[in-house]
Amino acid sequence: MSTPLLQTRDVGKSFGSVIALRDVSMLVNSGEVTCVLGDNGAGKSTLIKILSGVHVQDRGEYLVDGAPVRLGGPREALDRGIATVYQDLAMIPLMSVWRNFFLGSEPVTGRPRRLDVARAKDVARRELLDMGIDIRDVDQPVGTLSGGERQSVAIARAVHFGARALILDEPTSALGVKQAGVVLRYIARARDRGLGVVFITHNPHHAFPVGDRFLVLNRGTSLGEFAKADITRDELTSLMAGGAELDQLAHELGRDGPAGAGVTPER
Ligand SMILES: Nc1ncnc2c1ncn2[C@@H]1O[C@H](COP(=O)(O)OP(=O)(O)O)[C@@H](O)[C@H]1O
Ligand SMILES: [Mg+2]
Repeated sequence: MSTPLLQTRDVGKSFGSVIALRDVSMLVNSGEVTCVLGDNGAGKSTLIKILSGVHVQDRGEYLVDGAPVRLGGPREALDRGIATVYQDLAMIPLMSVWRNFFLGSEPVTGRPRRLDVARAKDVARRELLDMGIDIRDVDQPVGTLSGGERQSVAIARAVHFGARALILDEPTSALGVKQAGVVLRYIARARDRGLGVVFITHNPHHAFPVGDRFLVLNRGTSLGEFAKADITRDELTSLMAGGAELDQLAHELGRDGPAGAGVTPER
């Protein structure tokens, strides 16, 4: 068994009195997709913010290439090839596809240095095509693309800038069935190019077809981490539903105050 690209061991994170994560262990291998599932408030975003250097865990270990790290910020994560695409995409709708592709990392040429527009457009077009994204005109504003295509541009950009690990926070949750399918295809492509992908979703039907490993979170705790061979789609779905029912029950029993994310219902 080779060294996992990313791994957490019993990580925990609190915000004041809110325990957002408790004892969560997971791993991400190159060329695989690890899905992180859970309802709202389960701790999914907190976990990936630890992976991407936005937060440092209070407890437990985070290992990159087998070595424990404490990342000082997202820049340090990026330097290690860990790229994150957030729900609210860092894209500027009125700007062209190629400008969005580079955003601050444009190729330059000549003396005095100026933007190499022709090369930028060409690279953007080719990288997108390599990911199977056929955008006729890279001059068109990103805002004219479909939701799935926009996510795909963000994925292609991360791949181009050398990502080894690609973290996607609910890339399919705002999309219809067809557009979600588009994004799932690019996730599979990134995996096929050897990246380790972390795919956050609350939808087991999106996770199952593309996932190699599944971590299910409920109110900050892990309900388990499963390799694909060890769980069926139905089991994954009922595990998720079970978590939701427990939340509802805790709510009905009045144990679900606003700061109650650390309350673990009995099971
Ligand atoms: N920066 C923060 N400050 C305070 N509480 C937070 C912060 N980030 C997340 N939380 C809390 O941690 C819990 C988990 O949140 P989050 O990781 O965003 O869950 P998810 O992404 O699964 O919906 C929630 O109770 C949320 O309110
Ligand atoms: Mg979230």
